[in-house]
Amino acid sequence: MKKMQDSPLLKTTLGSLTLENPFILSSAPPTSNGQMIRRAFGAGWGGAVIKTITPDDMPIRDVSPRFTAWKSECNDLLGFENIELLSKHSVSYWVQEIGAIKSEFPDKILIASIMGSPDPATWQDLAEDVQNAGCDAIELNVSCPHGMPEAGIGSAIGQNPRMVQDLTQMVVKVADVPVYVKLTPNITDISPVALAAALGRADGISAINTVSCMFGIDIDTLTPLPNVDGYSTYGGYSGPAIRPIGLRMVSQIAKTVPLPIMGIGGISRWQDAVQYLLLGASAVQVCTAVMWNGYGIVRGMKKGLTDYLKEKEYSSPDELRGLCLDTLTSHQSLDRKLRIRPHISNPASCIRCGRCVIACRDGGHQAIELKSDGVVINTAACDGCGLCIQICSTGTLEKESYSAV
Ligand SMILES: Cc1cc2nc3c(=O)[nH]c(=O)nc-3n(C[C@H](O)[C@H](O)[C@H](O)COP(=O)(O)O)c2cc1C
Repeated sequence: MKKMQDSPLLKTTLGSLTLENPFILSSAPPTSNGQMIRRAFGAGWGGAVIKTITPDDMPIRDVSPRFTAWKSECNDLLGFENIELLSKHSVSYWVQEIGAIKSEFPDKILIASIMGSPDPATWQDLAEDVQNAGCDAIELNVSCPHGMPEAGIGSAIGQNPRMVQDLTQMVVKVADVPVYVKLTPNITDISPVALAAALGRADGISAINTVSCMFGIDIDTLTPLPNVDGYSTYGGYSGPAIRPIGLRMVSQIAKTVPLPIMGIGGISRWQDAVQYLLLGASAVQVCTAVMWNGYGIVRGMKKGLTDYLKEKEYSSPDELRGLCLDTLTSHQSLDRKLRIRPHISNPASCIRCGRCVIACRDGGHQAIELKSDGVVINTAACDGCGLCIQICSTGTLEKESYSAV
């Protein structure tokens, strides 16, 4: 079968690496084995991060079930919790597969995610094994929020800047391919950890891993979710719900260290990827959207990004990198004079649902009434919060800007 070439417009620079396109599968179920990675590359992904490889004397035993999903009424995924552990394949399996996959797909970027024991020497051994096998880069998983922290690894390391710096330094010492450190969002301020990775001479940062969560309780059976024989544990939240957290953290990292970043968290559309690039990422990684919708989503993502770049007259995703970083400022310095208020240019589109009236009455400033001839806005009472515009499902309430002075 003839290989579909990506548009040259999509060529992306990730530090010293060049990607055919900026879309990379993150370390997760879609990269669980060599055949899956081959299918993903065939479907058009620019790169893949292998499901985290551990030393053979750290056996991985998963529980069942290990997922819970928060869905819209149309079965669209909003948020996803997992309590899954790491790769169940041996180091020798991956060493063999890395070499084979790289010889079949020399232009794709194959990154090996690794996690050793609390002894940094085990991370060094893994790093040497995967780089000798031919991987293009190494990702240090210091961010898994469940299971592994109980053993002093995963996010237990990623929450401690000193440990991140020391571990990174140890791995970089033996590595001759770029080393990325995958950070945890389960920390008050991610900047010191990004700085620690940079001080440890990391070549780049991946962020974010999943957000620690307690998905919920089945209120009929009084059991926690996911329910493992009546018990559960804190898990990792992913999917669209965490995108705003990922965007915040990627922008904070980009403002802190001058390293290439792979942006991760809730990416399912090309528009999500563009936002990560605009806030400082060089490339993006995707997991949950692929688990829900398959490898094929990359086609729409590549087409959407290509069309966007053409329309905006950019010649590469590289040109988007960090363009919006300077638009993030302190709350104190935000303009107070420019205000917005709701405006109705097409009253016929109003379905008289009354949602804006209730929201403004009980969550706003009592500035909207539903009268016999439709919605009436009291502009003198309106405080410009914008809640009504957010809640309007028909687009009847539009944003009108004005200056308060
Ligand atoms: C079921 C599942 C398993 C995962 N396993 C790993 C893993 O082995 N190593 C790792 O670094 N991240 C792992 N992750 C985290 C993802 O790589 C990714 O950082 C996270 O899901 C956020 O991206 P998303 O919103 O696109 O899913 C896993 C995520 C899920 C949902």
